[in-house]
Amino acid sequence: MASDNDERKKKWRCDVAASSIFAAGQGSPVPFLMAALPLAGAAATLTICIPGELRRVVLRSCAISAAAYGATRHLLPVIGAKVPAAKYGCDLLKRPAREPVAAADKTVPESLGLVSGVCFVLALVVTQSFQKEQSPEYSAAMLSVVFAVLLGFADDVLDLEWKYKYVLPPLMSLPLLSAYGGGTTVAPPRVLRELLVRGADLSAAGAFLDAALSALGGGVDAAGRGLVDLGLAYKVYMVLLAVFCTNAINIYAGVNGLEAGQTYATGVAILVMSAVELGRAVGDDGVFDEAENAMARHHLFSVTLMLPFCATTLALLKSNWFPAEVFVGDTFTNYAGMTLAVVAILGHFPVMLMALMVPQLLNFLISVPQLFKLRPCPRHRLPTFDEATGYLRFSRVNDRATTVPDGANIMNLTLINAALRACRGLTEPALAALLLALQAATCAAAVALRFCLVGRVY
Ligand code: UD1
Ligand code: MG
Repeated sequence: MASDNDERKKKWRCDVAASSIFAAGQGSPVPFLMAALPLAGAAATLTICIPGELRRVVLRSCAISAAAYGATRHLLPVIGAKVPAAKYGCDLLKRPAREPVAAADKTVPESLGLVSGVCFVLALVVTQSFQKEQSPEYSAAMLSVVFAVLLGFADDVLDLEWKYKYVLPPLMSLPLLSAYGGGTTVAPPRVLRELLVRGADLSAAGAFLDAALSALGGGVDAAGRGLVDLGLAYKVYMVLLAVFCTNAINIYAGVNGLEAGQTYATGVAILVMSAVELGRAVGDDGVFDEAENAMARHHLFSVTLMLPFCATTLALLKSNWFPAEVFVGDTFTNYAGMTLAVVAILGHFPVMLMALMVPQLLNFLISVPQLFKLRPCPRHRLPTFDEATGYLRFSRVNDRATTVPDGANIMNLTLINAALRACRGLTEPALAALLLALQAATCAAAVALRFCLVGRVY
């Protein structure tokens, strides 16, 4: 009987998935190379193409990021071994959904986002110690990320209820709000600006918006250009962005490598975009006057933040990829979302961030009925493992426990399940690779659109 059980468990170890070219279990370098090449390429291009004194700054940031990568790789197994057994998680997509989870099934240490998070913050501290002028925005960014690591880890350890989870991201963004010295003015697309302004005056729509915003300390610039000062609404928007990013990454999860992978792809896209912008802002002569060139400063800020962020996330992704040796925990989803929000706010590209996060936005929109309890929402909405074939199936509400009558047993509303519904016969690493390819394609399209269209739309 015991050996029968062992045989079945061996089967559950996903021999089908393990033989996928996307599985790293058999020492296949393919997944790692596919992930590492874009970052290495972006860093190399940046150091070669950026002229003048900026090259030194970028080279230093590359060296710090490489060290942060090495430290994360080294520390993951060391800290993983110290995680108490009570904080191990069960790798749910390696076993039949209905099989009860015993303590012995919890074999993967949780919350290892703590390691990459701490190494990332240390890399930021070292970066800042080399800066000639101390920037309050950089300090605020660091404080927000540290706060996000701390509160995410508290959530993992204390298993906070959802009501507390809603207040955490606004709390984490407080340092950013208090230190934010940038403007609260946004430039809507040209079509909208033309609607707001008529000649040298405001149109009726512009006057209405101006009156509404003046209550919040903002207004519409009547001097012909239609720029909109959002006043206090801008700060509310900053908080909402932090809330969205942290939660959107956290609910697009449950497949080995997906949390770290989506963040990594988005981070590399931001790095590429900022690198191109930086190159344009500096020009061929390599003269870089920070005081005069505010935009170049923002892009340099993004580059020095994204290099160590991508490096430490890649180190975490390597251990979290199928078959996962560690889980990233809410510590990671929290600080990853916060970092993306921070870089978009201080780098002045919040709309672009939304374009880079289209899969997360889609997943959120698909999830709305379950998130807002219009439909039953089980604790876990991740797919189910089909032990007969070794493939994943889209999950239904009742897959892990009978909570609703048969008629209400709908598919769990996530993009992950929708992808499985459309493409049957996917193993876990193949599903992760597919979803990350979607993320990479979205990011590539968004970056391409930015450089092709922005001059025409704005
Ligand atoms: C969110 C999702 C939940 C999903 C979970 C998976 C919503 C509202 N919540 O919940 O549906 O099931 O993330 O992360 O959409 N796990 C795996 N494989 C992985 C990653 C995680 O099996 O690759 C499992 C492990 O048992 C791990 C647990 O998910 O212990 C972590 O879940 P947690 O982060 O606590 O879930 P939530 O963020 O609350
Ligand atoms: Mg989570």
